[in-house]
Amino acid sequence: MSEIMKSLESAVKVLGSRAALRPEIGIILGTGLSSLAEKIEVETSIPYGEIPGFPVSTVEGHAGNLVLGRISGRPVAVFQGRFHLYEGYSPQQIAFPIRALKAFGVNVLLESNAAGGLNPAYQVGDLVLITDHINLQGFNPLVGPNDENIGPRFPDMSEPYDRLLLDLARQTALREGIQLREGVYVGVLGPNLETRAEYRFLRMIGADLVGMSTVPEVIAAVHAGMRVFGVSVVTDRCLPDALKPVTFDEILAAAGKAEPSLTRLFLKLIESI
Ligand code: HPA
Repeated sequence: MSEIMKSLESAVKVLGSRAALRPEIGIILGTGLSSLAEKIEVETSIPYGEIPGFPVSTVEGHAGNLVLGRISGRPVAVFQGRFHLYEGYSPQQIAFPIRALKAFGVNVLLESNAAGGLNPAYQVGDLVLITDHINLQGFNPLVGPNDENIGPRFPDMSEPYDRLLLDLARQTALREGIQLREGVYVGVLGPNLETRAEYRFLRMIGADLVGMSTVPEVIAAVHAGMRVFGVSVVTDRCLPDALKPVTFDEILAAAGKAEPSLTRLFLKLIESI
């Protein structure tokens, strides 16, 4: 058995020993977006440090627990806090928790993140369905030997974001009166925000949103055969010709403001998956 399969087996063993519940849906809560966790009927909350193979989260605003429980009656596994490349983790480390969830039986991954709005039609606080992405991080979690037990060497990326989940989210938002925009997310390495020239470039290559996460997780999830869905909260407007300085606190505050509608969307979506 490969090293990675052995590590995954150890992680799954710990997860299985800590809860009777077998989650069907994995959820990643982004920067400033942790309040969905309050809606979980918690069976157990496992600090990342107690799961073999998991890196430990260091960023402000990220709690660092895997919560197993139920939301709207459905068994879920919620990552409270995520791992970013800019923290110094390797792409493989970032992929590990996703692969562990898949090995634990989770087939659907719901992603959320705080992102900059490149599309001039977006306002701060908007919720945007991620319909596609561009990997501009200079990293890929699939680099290195490939274990066919996890997924194929050359995974298809023609539809990384699941069409049925996107449709379900559109219907849910319409029914709930939640305004949802749609766009392409470009993943950058960070940790600095972009220069004006970089924002101009990112807009020109076809991106609507920019952020420092999500893409490696989605690649790992698609590789492993999971159905993926993602929503960004626009926390700052990235308009190269009218750019204002922005602080991390402002980004957190903007994410916090949009949190109630994001939480409502996720709750209703989980009900109907
Ligand atoms: N750039 C990159 N990541 C971000 C931004 C941004 O402007 N806003 C929130 N996350």
